[in-house]
Amino acid sequence: MIKSEEVRKIFLDFFARRGHKIVSSSSLIPYDDPSVLLTTAGMQQFKKYYTREKDALKDFGTQRTTSIQKCFRTTDIDEVGDERHLTFFEMLGNFSFGPVGTDDPEDFGIVGYFKKSAIYWAHELITKEFGLKIDYVTVFGGEENVPFDEESFKFWQNLGFSQDKILKKGREDNFWGPTGDEGPCGPTTEIYVDGLEIWNLVFNEYYQDKNKNLKKLEFPGVDTGMGLERLMKVLQKTPTIFETDLFLPLKEVLDKFSDNERRKRIIMDHLRGSVFLIADGLYPSNLERGYVLRRILRRLRLHAKFLNLTFDILEELIKKTIEKYSEFYPELKNFEKIKSIFFEELNNFENTLNRGLREFEKLIKENDSPEILGEKVFLLYTSYGLPKEISLELLKEKGILWDNNSEKVYQELFKEHQLISKGNNG
Ligand code: SER
Repeated sequence: MIKSEEVRKIFLDFFARRGHKIVSSSSLIPYDDPSVLLTTAGMQQFKKYYTREKDALKDFGTQRTTSIQKCFRTTDIDEVGDERHLTFFEMLGNFSFGPVGTDDPEDFGIVGYFKKSAIYWAHELITKEFGLKIDYVTVFGGEENVPFDEESFKFWQNLGFSQDKILKKGREDNFWGPTGDEGPCGPTTEIYVDGLEIWNLVFNEYYQDKNKNLKKLEFPGVDTGMGLERLMKVLQKTPTIFETDLFLPLKEVLDKFSDNERRKRIIMDHLRGSVFLIADGLYPSNLERGYVLRRILRRLRLHAKFLNLTFDILEELIKKTIEKYSEFYPELKNFEKIKSIFFEELNNFENTLNRGLREFEKLIKENDSPEILGEKVFLLYTSYGLPKEISLELLKEKGILWDNNSEKVYQELFKEHQLISKGNNG
């Protein structure tokens, strides 16, 4: 069975042979893009090449690059625990910037390319190199100021896809970007294997400004992204992404403790994510990205407690993560530093969590009204320091619904509390 290590190599070699420069992943903490909290896509480090503020030919010796990018997306944090959501993941990508040449897939040179080459190469890599069968593909069907992507439709037809295997979708599904407030964006064509969207090919023809106006870019570019975890799932034919070799070293340890898949997935995802965030220099804090790290470490601690995992076991999981990934991400080699920040945060949270859990059990009743729940969760936070996210997680465990009314009461009390604190300080 093909391993992820081989897949990384096949992908990068495929594009390197086709004139692409292999570029290392950028940090999860974007260094010159204040519009985003964390790195969420492979194209992020290349934004300025699409807008011509930077020159790819000068920096890379080619208008084509390829990378495996570390990504962290916060939008799905609460969904983690199901079969498919992740915070941290890796994205395999190929990119083209600047003037487009002949866009001939046989051209292995260094000039920019566009839809035809991007589609033909993706097709070749998936079906020939990886031997997978594409179920169907989607293209942009046309909406508002952006026309139907007829060219992509035709290229898929030329590759033998019948019309019913080329679905036309709207802006919601088949238009990508920008990241943050503004940036390159455009229509996409997406590839589905075994019912999963595995590869997103974005044709960056536009620049969206802060007022959401679209302008045509001087030269169109290509930005593709394929999730490594999903690709491994279809290649290794595992029930979910969590049985692929990317997670297996962690899963084997956790399987000895529990058969609660949800808990194990939360622990695997949050542990891997926090190790990578810490390795990139992030510290847990109450602010912005620091809070993302704090939040996942605390949720990880909660579920680890439910499984009775000792700190030794957590340390073993950190070691296994580093073993699996440090060949590709040397920043992970600093085990002592990662370990010390990780456990310092967990230690600091320990008393609050234990006391919060006790108070939660005493206070929360199954038949509490939504409004009362709002009040109680607020009280748990202000009197015992139990973070709201942890309370909501505990409610979910008990099958108690936190609805809009609960949230409203919580927010009102929170605002009042802030005013009072400010008044006292002033
Ligand atoms: N930027 C696109 C994505 O994140 C393709 O790389 O899906």
